[in-house]
Amino acid sequence: MSSQIDHLLNESRRFSPSPEFAAQAIGTAELYDEAKADREAFWARQANELITWDKSFTEVLDWSNPPFAKWFADGTLNVAYNCLDRHVEAGNGDRVALLFEGEPGDSRAVTYAELTDLVKRAANVLEGLGVTKGDRVALYLPMIPEAVAAMLACARIGAIHSVVFGGFSADSLRSRLDDAGAKLVITADGGYRKGKVSALKPAVDMALADRNGEGEQATVEHVLVIRRGENEVEWTEGRDLWWHEEVEAASPDHTAQGFEAETPLFVLYTSGTTGKPKGILHTSGGYLTQAAFTNRVVHDIHPETDVYWCTADIGWITGHSYVTYGPLANGATQVLYEGTPETPHPGRWWEIVQKYGVTVLYTAPTAIRSFMKQGRQIPQEFDLSSIRLLGSVGEPINPEAWVWYRDVIGGGHAPIVDTWWQTETGAIMISPLPGVTELTPGSAQNPIPGIEVSIVDEKGEEVEDGNGGLLVVTSPWPSMLRGIWGDPDRYVDTYWRMFADKGYYFAGDGARKDEDGDIWLLGRVDDVMNVSGHRLSTAEIESALVGNEAVAEAAVVGASDETTGQAVVAFVIIKENYLRAHKADGLAQNLRLWVGEQIGPIARPRDIYIVGELPKTRSGKIMRRLLRDVAEGREVGDTTTLADTAVMSVISKQVK
Ligand code: PRX
Repeated sequence: MSSQIDHLLNESRRFSPSPEFAAQAIGTAELYDEAKADREAFWARQANELITWDKSFTEVLDWSNPPFAKWFADGTLNVAYNCLDRHVEAGNGDRVALLFEGEPGDSRAVTYAELTDLVKRAANVLEGLGVTKGDRVALYLPMIPEAVAAMLACARIGAIHSVVFGGFSADSLRSRLDDAGAKLVITADGGYRKGKVSALKPAVDMALADRNGEGEQATVEHVLVIRRGENEVEWTEGRDLWWHEEVEAASPDHTAQGFEAETPLFVLYTSGTTGKPKGILHTSGGYLTQAAFTNRVVHDIHPETDVYWCTADIGWITGHSYVTYGPLANGATQVLYEGTPETPHPGRWWEIVQKYGVTVLYTAPTAIRSFMKQGRQIPQEFDLSSIRLLGSVGEPINPEAWVWYRDVIGGGHAPIVDTWWQTETGAIMISPLPGVTELTPGSAQNPIPGIEVSIVDEKGEEVEDGNGGLLVVTSPWPSMLRGIWGDPDRYVDTYWRMFADKGYYFAGDGARKDEDGDIWLLGRVDDVMNVSGHRLSTAEIESALVGNEAVAEAAVVGASDETTGQAVVAFVIIKENYLRAHKADGLAQNLRLWVGEQIGPIARPRDIYIVGELPKTRSGKIMRRLLRDVAEGREVGDTTTLADTAVMSVISKQVK
């Protein structure tokens, strides 16, 4: 089967940054030239300028044992010092680091000095519990300032944190605790979600409970419990400790020691498409360099004036790189919101933007499309005029959602940076620079300075512009994953085997480069459909569907078909305001014709199902595998990683 993916959709709208925006932007066009001239020297300069090193590095990249990279290996640094103490030492201790907004409406501003104090105390607590360099600490927490502090306390003492998203079950937590061999768990009594306290501690208790003779004693020695929800908690004497009691009793003095640049910083589990979760390993110096650099030049962070808000949970890589490490290394002021977007009212996010005067907002297409579904009148009730830059991450953002985002949230003028990257890449890889790039809605556009990618066929040959193929990264980058925890072979197999002779990293995504050199992400290669010998991308057909005024969200899959090999099957959610004004009769047929007009008859869905919800992972990604089961009339497969496990039975009923 050819790896070429047919290119069908054209987007001709272009948006240049305003002269005012371009004039103040941190990322300039010269960065591309500098990186091209000498890539390693370019990254060395970023590492030297953005990071305070305890001991300077002399070697930039060691690629003598690919695919195991070492960046800045003989340098030493303390990641937490870089995110905290040095800002205080520079006289910025009074600057707010975190503008915390709890879901019930409680709020708290935490300055750099206060956060530094908290992290020093917490580091002393961890050391007092016997946690040392290289030990694993699992965090299972709501989005509260203590969560950020707990990550940094681990970093400060060279312990490896593994954040497990608070929405995961006790079973998922247990398998991650076991795989990581965690020594300590930091959790909370609960956190506020959807108007009530969602308990966390019981899941930890269950994950650590007797294993019914399964053998294998858990490695966890202690559980530190943060008080947030005023929830009753069960207590295991000797094992469980209250965070606030320990932190208050701890010394506020803690000297940050420098660790080698390749010291592991964290392991973050990502489920992947099949099999057991992979513990993606990131290390210190290279990771922090690229996280800080991209936050500066892509999010254009001016730490003195910006109020930045990345809406991701710390349970995801976006929360690691663009809530905790990148922005704090840069000394930024950011909003940290605990709850869900619709609580207690659907305008909550926009109320927060208005309250804090958010200037830079970074979120996911799934959120943008759900706001589109509710209609623009909700954000329009709030003053969003402070916003000057918008970002998107996690999925392709279709042009209609892009334009809506710019118009309704960005006042018709804010540039949008569509940032492509992965848990594995650690930081942004492909994105516009907002003061430089002429924006094309729907395209992530170009690799950032210092990053080299290509779009290739299955032999690793670059495909011609205009054609789709496989996205690869062709040279190592500072924030790249250093491995899969405990499984080096799986690391090599998953990411490097496919193009071993060329030394390319295979990202698993399809992409194409258009005639302007802009890169379009086409979705996971596993999801590509083959219709009558044409390889069609899920992203393009979904984008065409969402381009119709009636459609809020769409998911497309290929289902086996006797005549065409595979046929396109679409699941769509209709906008609420459209349903109020129109009848849904004949809508599916109209949408089939619409896709035919937009893209071509080959892409016309065989079936269109109008549904109320789509199956999504907890990070908001559509699980097309399950929709394929429905489309092919099979029993629906494993739904345990769904955010809402009931969704599939509703969809199955609707389809029948
Ligand atoms: O398929 C790509 C998609 O999300 C995948 C990575 O997911 P995860 O490791 O959970 O990290 C998400 C946050 C970085 C990619 O392989 N993806 C991410 N960003 C984009 C995207 N697809 C298209 N456009 C993007 N901007």
